[in-house]
Amino acid sequence: MADPAVSNRVAGIEPQQIRRLFDLASDHDADDIVHLELGEPDFPTPAHVIDAAAVAARDGETNYTPNAGIDSLRRAIADRLRADGVDADPDRVVVTTGGVEALYLTLLTVTDPGDEVVVPTPAWPNPLSQARLAGATPVPVPLSPADGFAFDADRIIDTITDRTGAVIVTSPSNPTGRVFDTAAMERVVDAAARHDAYVIADEVYHELTYDRRPDRLAAVTDHPERVVTIDSCSKTYSMTGWRVGWLSGPKPVTTAVTKIHESTTSCVNTPAQYAAVAALTGTDAPVREMQAAFEYRRDAIVDRLDAIPAVSAPRPEGAFYAFVDVSALSGSSMEIAQQLLFEYDVVAAPGSAFGPGGEEYLRFSFANDLDRIERGLDRFEQLVRDEGHGA
Ligand SMILES: Cc1ncc(COP(=O)(O)O)c(C=O)c1O
Repeated sequence: MADPAVSNRVAGIEPQQIRRLFDLASDHDADDIVHLELGEPDFPTPAHVIDAAAVAARDGETNYTPNAGIDSLRRAIADRLRADGVDADPDRVVVTTGGVEALYLTLLTVTDPGDEVVVPTPAWPNPLSQARLAGATPVPVPLSPADGFAFDADRIIDTITDRTGAVIVTSPSNPTGRVFDTAAMERVVDAAARHDAYVIADEVYHELTYDRRPDRLAAVTDHPERVVTIDSCSKTYSMTGWRVGWLSGPKPVTTAVTKIHESTTSCVNTPAQYAAVAALTGTDAPVREMQAAFEYRRDAIVDRLDAIPAVSAPRPEGAFYAFVDVSALSGSSMEIAQQLLFEYDVVAAPGSAFGPGGEEYLRFSFANDLDRIERGLDRFEQLVRDEGHGA
């Protein structure tokens, strides 16, 4: 029922399931809880990035900046995208409060109330709630676990109509770790273009891949004028709390986004923008180190899961999550996640938090040291064995 205290727009937004689990975990009284649910790197922000913010603040860079961000940062972002083959220009880049704001402002810009937003799932849930906030209707398209949640272009294209305002393509995927096939993604952009819809390419995990470097969608498509690229410092540079992200896309979109930005936030935190310049233009060594550590842990977590009876996980190609098939266990993914928390003191994200298709999965983050991963999976194995598997 509508809550008269708040707008219908907000009242219609369900709290995220992952948040419910965080709340349960913070109320859970145990000495040694193993957190494997978190979606952020466990590495410190590189020292040269922190120094750049401190220097900027000390040098008086503490005022508002242009709404779209400081020139040096927009240039650095455009340079990085151009190095990946995207036809980027600083004048078509807007700096935002994380990738999450870039996504929301893009959705506000490219959809009208009543439009549909196509979201292949399982997916990071924010675009679904953002679409609702924007007055649009999210249309989840469940990808098939049978082929490892591969990007099913035919299925996605079937849902694109003249009502479609945007299609969200997140590769590498959170939660599946899948890097989508480039040709399949291109076909979806072609279909979106035929219906005057945009494709929002959420590429916040682009630098954290293990087997091959993925293409940026805006670099390969025949319709770059229909693609908005979203990225951020959060995952790549271990800067989740700095809140610096961006979008790059066609001029009408970035101009409109800047207008909204002017009304809603003015600009991103100024010293944080200088920190982002240092991240993008300074040494890449910390990123490579982190990526190598994640790759090592990715292999370790998948090998460890392989040794647990009755469950399985495809080897993630990017991001830092293992998406584990728990369909052989009893209960929903939320029930299994709660059992794991209450009886075994391990926190994992229930697959149902990621929309249709994720119900029979748990997401374990390997943005954690190996010791903790081992301890968490030892306990998970105990749960599986206590359920009578592998006896
Ligand atoms: C797929 C995906 N996109 C975007 C974001 C947003 O990250 P941020 O706003 O910190 O840049 C996240 C964060 O978890 C994510 O998983």
